[in-house]
Amino acid sequence: MDIQKEISLKSYNTFGIDAKARYFIEINSADELWQALQLEEYPEKFVLSGGSNMLIAGDINALVLHINIKGIEVVKEDSDQVILKIMAGENWHTLVLWTLEKGYGGLENMSLIPGNTGTAPIQNIGAYGVELRDTFVSCEAINVDDLTLRTFTKEDCRFGYRDSYFKNEGKGKYIITSVTLQLTKRNHRRNTSYGAIESELEKKGISDPKIKDISNAVIAIRQSKLPDPKVLGNSGSFFKNPIISESEFHTFTKDHPNAPFYTISADSYKIPAGWLIEQAGYKGKRFGDAGIHKKQALVLVNYGNATGQEIIDLAWKIIEAVEKKFGIRIEPEVNIIGQNGNYDQ
Ligand code: EPU
Repeated sequence: MDIQKEISLKSYNTFGIDAKARYFIEINSADELWQALQLEEYPEKFVLSGGSNMLIAGDINALVLHINIKGIEVVKEDSDQVILKIMAGENWHTLVLWTLEKGYGGLENMSLIPGNTGTAPIQNIGAYGVELRDTFVSCEAINVDDLTLRTFTKEDCRFGYRDSYFKNEGKGKYIITSVTLQLTKRNHRRNTSYGAIESELEKKGISDPKIKDISNAVIAIRQSKLPDPKVLGNSGSFFKNPIISESEFHTFTKDHPNAPFYTISADSYKIPAGWLIEQAGYKGKRFGDAGIHKKQALVLVNYGNATGQEIIDLAWKIIEAVEKKFGIRIEPEVNIIGQNGNYDQ
């Protein structure tokens, strides 16, 4: 196995943090992964996939396994549906475009989400009214302790808002090798209820959108608001939108009657963290090379040479400012990676 030493991870994480991996190996198949996990001379191992939902705090003193397992397989299809098994290293947006070319529906609202397919279940990726769980059938993952391959059903994954089993009890225990999704071939469930999509389609004069039109609208909205990681390092939403109770919501809206919110249930409300951060005065601010995006305050950016620690310091400053102003504590959505590749979050 080709193990490299002291490799810069700058091009392997969308934040563009120039941290080093003590050891690094490219993994191209489930079998290679299985073999690498057995390398006893490297007791500390860290799995890196698309590098799109993480902030590397500093150099990683471990063997970094870069998951690059490719392939898409049609498992089953009839005239209405198709079931696809996608290997973990397939880029998510490339997959979305591939499905649209084939005329398969279900992923169009999640166009342009950075990262790879294998990490999509971990935080149940979602955008514009659709989440991964809506098309998810199952995934396969290797247990890092006994090296067995396990299939997780949708129920096993316990998906929630930007959340799953793999972020909780299953944290660090499994490496996802493939994801199986069920997509539509006709009678697509078009989801355009998210306000920005409707107005984008209207702008283009489209009243009966095809799935490709929805994807194009999502791409246009994302490009107008969210920075392209190839141009400006970032990890998408850095924070989760906080969910507050009915009584907290009551106090909050009395003080801030114009604040946007989403009703989640009879007793829970989601408040956009981007709005809270903007109101706390942080939108567009820059501290050295670490900053808050000018068009979407939920996104922290690296203007070039910010260190992971500088981004973390900025995140804490924001968390404290929001808590002081609103009494609401926001939490990072990205995984913060410590020295041994452990999650520090
Ligand atoms: N807002 C502000 N200021 C800002 C940003 C947002 O006032 O700087 C307000 C907006 O005006 C709007 C509300 O907050 O009223 C919601 O904003 P937006 O529609 O942009 O969505 P979001 O809640 O900020 C979430 C996801 C995004 C996803 C969009 C669209 C989370 C943590 N983020 O953002 O996901 O693209 O909805 O579905 O749930 C990601 O996970 O990386 C990501 C980008």
